[in-house]
Amino acid sequence: MRTVSTHRLPGTAWEELVREVEVEVLEEWPPSEPLAGVEAAVVVSRRVDAAVLELLPDLRLVANYGVGYDSVDVGACTMRGVAVTNTPGVLDAAVADLTMALVLAVRRRIVEADAFVRSGEWRDEWIFPPVTGEDVAGATLGIVGLGRIGGAVARRARAFDMRVLYAGRRRLETELAEYRELDALLGEADVVSLHVPLTAATRGLVDARRLALLRDGAALVNTARGPVVDEPALVRELVSGRIRAGLDVFAAEPSVPPELLSLPNVVLTPHVGSATTETRAAMTRVVVANVLALARGEPLVTPVAD
Ligand code: DGY
Repeated sequence: MRTVSTHRLPGTAWEELVREVEVEVLEEWPPSEPLAGVEAAVVVSRRVDAAVLELLPDLRLVANYGVGYDSVDVGACTMRGVAVTNTPGVLDAAVADLTMALVLAVRRRIVEADAFVRSGEWRDEWIFPPVTGEDVAGATLGIVGLGRIGGAVARRARAFDMRVLYAGRRRLETELAEYRELDALLGEADVVSLHVPLTAATRGLVDARRLALLRDGAALVNTARGPVVDEPALVRELVSGRIRAGLDVFAAEPSVPPELLSLPNVVLTPHVGSATTETRAAMTRVVVANVLALARGEPLVTPVAD
């Protein structure tokens, strides 16, 4: 079965794939000319829309490397009978760990403290450092989207003795966190962490009005998707110094608003939520399982719903 991929994926499962099907790693995406006979496309953070599908007339599967599949137009795929799969479940712990790292880094000012030591200005032992932070234990974490990743964050936050609230489309039967309407959560939390997928309903969910609901000194952590937040409004709030943030995702990656680069109240990471060796290899295993299922005529392992 002829398969194209935007990248060579990490981990040993890739070898299993190339043993069983013909895989070509493309140098450019979208392909510069139509590719007849390609039945599966493995995509990492690349747009798949009607125009791309035109170039792959025999396509039957888009296997997205990542749980978030907002770069794939699932409606256009469905109209052409092309299935879409993603990689849910295997990256929850890695993303939740990075989220907690950002919560800790922002409240305890770890990046500023590191810069202070490197600057050579540390002269007064430990008594009055210019980087005194705030407690994590006892602080209130507001989770927006208590799904698989949000739930993993809630469990970690509870282990840190945080009080945990959540907002979401539905009120859940759960003891992990207390439900709040989104606006109420924004006004009550010391740290707000976003864990919703990027959809038409969540694009711009945290807009200028909602950012203004955050308490002075509160922090926003985003390991979900940049466009869930109105980025220019967030930049304005951060430049004013009123709030803080830990940001792993941005509206137009890999570009980062230049105003953020010199701000002490923001910790920035380059979309590394799932970037551990083990998790990236596990994501490859899920992609490979889906492509091989198609090749063998078996049910797909992790199809997404339109
Ligand atoms: C995903 O899986 O959607 C992530 O953003 C990639 O780490």
